[in-house]
Amino acid sequence: MAFVHTTVLAQETVTTVAQAARTACVAGEGLVVDCTLGGGGHSAGVLAATQDLPGLQVVGIDRDPAALAAASERLDGFGPRFVAVHGQFGQFSMLLQQLGLLHDGAPRLPLVGVIADLGVSSPQFDEPERGFSFRFDGPLDMRMDPSQGLTAAELLAQVKLEDLADVLYQYGDITRSIGTARIVLDEFGKGATTTALLAQRLAARLKHNRSMHPATQVFQALRIWVNREYDELNALLDQVPWMLADDGALALITFHSGEDRPVKQRFAELARSGAFALPVRRGVVPSDSETQSNVRARSARLRVLVRGEQSAAGRYFATRRREDDEDGEADEEEIANEEK
Ligand SMILES: C[S@@+](CC[C@H](N)C(=O)[O-])C[C@H]1O[C@@H](n2cnc3c(N)ncnc32)[C@H](O)[C@@H]1O
Repeated sequence: MAFVHTTVLAQETVTTVAQAARTACVAGEGLVVDCTLGGGGHSAGVLAATQDLPGLQVVGIDRDPAALAAASERLDGFGPRFVAVHGQFGQFSMLLQQLGLLHDGAPRLPLVGVIADLGVSSPQFDEPERGFSFRFDGPLDMRMDPSQGLTAAELLAQVKLEDLADVLYQYGDITRSIGTARIVLDEFGKGATTTALLAQRLAARLKHNRSMHPATQVFQALRIWVNREYDELNALLDQVPWMLADDGALALITFHSGEDRPVKQRFAELARSGAFALPVRRGVVPSDSETQSNVRARSARLRVLVRGEQSAAGRYFATRRREDDEDGEADEEEIANEEK
């Protein structure tokens, strides 16, 4: 099946990283790491926008071998400027080490840009056998890397009630978590071991409003649990900022408040240290036209951390009014400027 994923906040992310590369490369050399290669959309944009920087190398990481294969084929034309690597971005330093791009814990080339577009790709979500979605029936798998770790079904078969309740509370914002966990385990034990069947049984037993399917938050929580998504994010936030070159940028796209909160907090702490700048205070949200053409972009928010002073970061951002979907109010919002 063809790997089709519509890149979210493509222009804003590519502009940010390409401009950071232009400012932060030393003698025309630098390194960009796309931690979530997926279909290669962001990497392709950065590579195309920096054709005049032949010394800029892009490394694309993905834990999903199918994404890696599709993106490698798509980006083949960029030759040795692009390298794909299979792995988890939580092991950022180790992966760079394996590629010979780290020396004594520091990148051999100035790390001018890092992209992380969190969450799943459309093919992961749309292929029933991957088990992420309850729109179709499939095995309760949910592993982004099908070659490693336990599936959702394997975890559910061995989890204790209280631990599952914690997962639902922390990763799915489910407040009646003990009751919900009991229903999930009860239905799973009675044979609801596939995605659509479990969702159907949950719909019959969970209280819900009409705006969201009652299984949505449960499935989100299970997915985050299976893939240890928050551990991965925290490991990335621990490693990347201080590895950035001066004027280098970390561009991170989140899709729900649970993953946005730690990013926002960590970026704010780093900015308070005086060594980093936040060029877009509240992050960048997609334009109306993007959310109309791609529903998956609706909850996206791009946050940018720049190593160095605010003035450097300010060179490639402009202030303009944008409806901010965080509080539903029109607000003075800084968004990435089009590359001039
Ligand atoms: C939203 S998609 C990225 C799409 C990509 N930016 C594009 O434009 O085509 C997220 C990708 O990140 C990968 N991913 C998620 N968490 C990961 C992790 N911890 N380590 C490596 N890859 C991860 C997923 O397998 C998926 O392919």
